[in-house]
Amino acid sequence: ISKIAVLTSGGDAPGMNPCIRAVVRTALYNGLEVVGVRQGYKGLIENDMYDMNKRSVSNILNLGGTILKTARCLPFKEDEGMATAYKHLKERGIDALVVIGGDGTFTGALRFSKKYPDIAVMGVPGTIDNDLCGSTYTLGFDTATNTVIEAIDKIRDTADAHDRLFFIEVMGRDSGAIALRAGISCGAEAILLPEKQTAIEDLIKNLKEGHMNKKSSSIVIVAEGDKNGGVYDVAKAVQKEVNNYDIKVTILGHLQRGGSPSSFDRILGSRLGFAAVNALIAGETQKMVGLQANHILLTSLEDALNNHEFKLEADLLQMVDILSI
Ligand code: F6P
Repeated sequence: ISKIAVLTSGGDAPGMNPCIRAVVRTALYNGLEVVGVRQGYKGLIENDMYDMNKRSVSNILNLGGTILKTARCLPFKEDEGMATAYKHLKERGIDALVVIGGDGTFTGALRFSKKYPDIAVMGVPGTIDNDLCGSTYTLGFDTATNTVIEAIDKIRDTADAHDRLFFIEVMGRDSGAIALRAGISCGAEAILLPEKQTAIEDLIKNLKEGHMNKKSSSIVIVAEGDKNGGVYDVAKAVQKEVNNYDIKVTILGHLQRGGSPSSFDRILGSRLGFAAVNALIAGETQKMVGLQANHILLTSLEDALNNHEFKLEADLLQMVDILSI
């Protein structure tokens, strides 16, 4: 390979910038040219790309978001969109692509790469959702979880001062990873996850017991993708049965995606970016670089997407109720 394009796609995640920096500098170090693509697949279709040099990625390690910008791009799902993207890549002499993103990004990358195998593709898991197989952690998950913890600790202060019950919605359309980690870290009384159905009756029983045990405040974390109808429906259902508490709802929303990447995400981004370029140089394609037992290993994009092993740690799930009595 001689020329690599790099893009970020889907929801942004803290750690994407350190990863872009590592991709650019590792490629340059190895004598390759690098092109930055703006706004993910949209930039491929619209030919919105620029040559990058060592200084293009100066002083970005500490920045949240992504200097390349990102987008969710529907036209790239169509054959026509892919053909236009391919044409633009070929015109520029690009023969390898690093895509940093989550499952939507990888689905696009895999389809594209099967259609146009002469462009090598390497995925980097970048999503706060931590829901890809082949990497114990995805870029941004650590920072996002820390951001959530900081917010919930503050809510706990006021909940405790007022003897209130809070329902807090955290991100994760299909993933309870942030909810579970943040919940354990903040001593949540209950955590509602997409991966594990919690009956409202059980939640009510749990909260009533807490009140009997003289708990001054209670916090229930509800992941976006929980199947009980959303945080407001859960709060309403509980309100009908639990009258000892004043109930409040907080939706943390997109603040969870921003902020300076943690040390963990800066290192992970650097490692994954470095490994992605080295894997391409070694002739790999249609793979994802990931962290497994503190080693960087390759997984096929297919496995990263389809191997839906249950990713939440069993001991964490088990301890939620036990540690919050
Ligand atoms: O995939 C990351 C994520 O932050 C999910 O947790 C969330 O459901 C979704 O993106 C929100 O996407 P958008 O910013 O496009 O509304």
